[in-house]
Amino acid sequence: MLRIGVLVSGSGSNLQSIMDACERGDIDGTVAVVISNTADAYALKRAEKKSIPTVVVPHDAYPDRESFDRELIRVLKEYEVDLVALAGFMRVLTSGFLKEFPGRVINIHPALLPSFPGLGVRQKAIDHGVRFSGCTVHFVDDGVDTGPIIIQAVVPVYPDDSEEELKERILALEHKIYPKAIQLIAQGRLEIIGRRVFIRDLKKDESPCLVNPPLDV
Ligand code: GAR
Repeated sequence: MLRIGVLVSGSGSNLQSIMDACERGDIDGTVAVVISNTADAYALKRAEKKSIPTVVVPHDAYPDRESFDRELIRVLKEYEVDLVALAGFMRVLTSGFLKEFPGRVINIHPALLPSFPGLGVRQKAIDHGVRFSGCTVHFVDDGVDTGPIIIQAVVPVYPDDSEEELKERILALEHKIYPKAIQLIAQGRLEIIGRRVFIRDLKKDESPCLVNPPLDV
């Protein structure tokens, strides 16, 4: 059983999808601990409802990122975590943290990387006028949203979308792809070679994908 440590800062809807998938048996794993850098994150309540241990590590109580990360490492080791999943965690981890969990830290991002890394990316996608955006689960490396990509999902974007509409459209898919990415790791099916993540026993789907606006518009 994969022991998952989930790092959160906010609502925790992705955390919810991971906990539910573990409960259903869609992930061969368990959420061992939920850590938040903010005490009022709703994600903490979601974990408490499932009797999953929660720990608050307030980033502003530490003089620098290194000491904040050292405390995160200490807690994650205490709970014997195999995989660290960032789920709406709004802090950038240091390379010291990543060295403690090599190839074992993943993140979900609400855009189709490498387009729109960083923050405020849903509005940026709308403002840019792209026809598609989506979400990406990737391994975390030293950059911001630059690590090897595990899985992506695509949604259409419309010029009159509000940020909230696009957020909801993307979130619905985040809740599907994050548990799937974690299960692929739990099954030991992923291998990172350079930037590429190979999936053992993957069936290639050659069928055409979305066109927006549709060709018969
Ligand atoms: C999600 O949309 C996630 O992709 C995004 O924050 C939201 C958290 O929602 N993450 C980032 O922007 C990371 N830079 P949640 O708290 O309901 O899971």
